[in-house]
Formats: sequence, C-alpha cells, structure tokens
Amino acid sequence: MIKDLYTSQSPEDTGAIAAEILRAMPDGGVIALYGDLGAGKTVFARAFAAALGITEPVSSPTYTILQEYPVPDGGMFYHLDLYRISDARAGLAFGVDEYLNEPGAWILAEWPERIETLLPPGTVRLQIRHLSETGREITRLS
Ligand SMILES: Nc1ncnc2c1ncn2[C@@H]1O[C@H](COP(=O)(O)OP(=O)(O)OP(=O)(O)O)[C@@H](O)[C@H]1O
Ligand SMILES: [Mg+2]
Repeated sequence: MIKDLYTSQSPEDTGAIAAEILRAMPDGGVIALYGDLGAGKTVFARAFAAALGITEPVSSPTYTILQEYPVPDGGMFYHLDLYRISDARAGLAFGVDEYLNEPGAWILAEWPERIETLLPPGTVRLQIRHLSETGREITRLS
C-alpha cells in the first residue's frame, strides 16, 4: 500500500520510502515524481533502482532524458528526466509514450509536469517537498 504522506529526515530515509513504494508495485508501473530542483527525485530514483536489484550506478539523466536499466528478475526500469522537454508534443517526438505504456516495466519520471497529458491511468503521482536542509515530505497526489 502506498501511503498519502511520508516524512524523510535523510537521503537514506528517502531510499527506504522508495523501496517501500516499490513493494506496492510488484508488476511495474509509472511513478511521476514532482518536486523542485534538489528536492531528492534522483535520490529516490537511485534507491528505487537498487531495490529492483539494479547494481549499475544510476546517474542523473538530466542531459540524456532517458536511461534504461534491465531488471535482474525481468522487465526494465526507465528513468526519465523531462526537465529539458518543453511539453507533451516534444515528449511524443522523443517517444516517451512508448516507455510510459510498456507492460511489466517500472518507469520513474522526474519533471512529469512537462508531459502531464501523456501520463497513463494508474500513474502514481508523488510530490517531494523541502522541509529543511535534510527534511523532506513525500505526498501522494493521486
Ligand atoms: N531527506 C532527503 N531526501 C533526499 N535527498 C536529500 C535529503 N536530505 C538531503 N538530501 C540531498 O538533497 C539532494 C537531492 O538531490 P537530487 O539530485 O536527488 O534532487 P532532484 O530532485 O533530482 O533535483 P533535479 O530537479 O535537479 O534533478 C542530494 O544532494 C541529497 O543528498
Ligand atoms: Mg534529478
């Protein structure tokens, strides 16, 4: 079950929250991760990948838009950073819709507001907010 509110006091806490959310998504799905620059979206994505058993380092894909990782037990993990995608039309030109709708894959999108209209039904929308230097609040939007 994904809770409506999580509180994190450290990057490690955020990682544990990511692993807990993964347990509620055993067959894949889309996570739209909203939050300001430096909120902790990539920290969350890295821990999510690790919880999937991915051992490759997960870097910030800011300059690559998409990074794909095979999941050891099957399926794929797609990490999208849409900061440089202006809108849904640009997202479609890139082909994000194909990743977003791939069955049995986990997709985590940073800056999902850029492609809001392309997010499939069932997308888990999470917002990370700064509370303090190391404090964060993660809320489920829908
Ligand atoms: N509780 C916390 N959870 C997550 N990150 C934290 C926390 N406390 C401090 N941090 C720090 O905040 C920073 C988060 O950076 P991160 O790259 O994950 O942000 P981001 O949301 O992906 O930003 P961007 O929009 O630039 O991609 C890291 O330096 C991390 O160590
Ligand atoms: Mg990031």
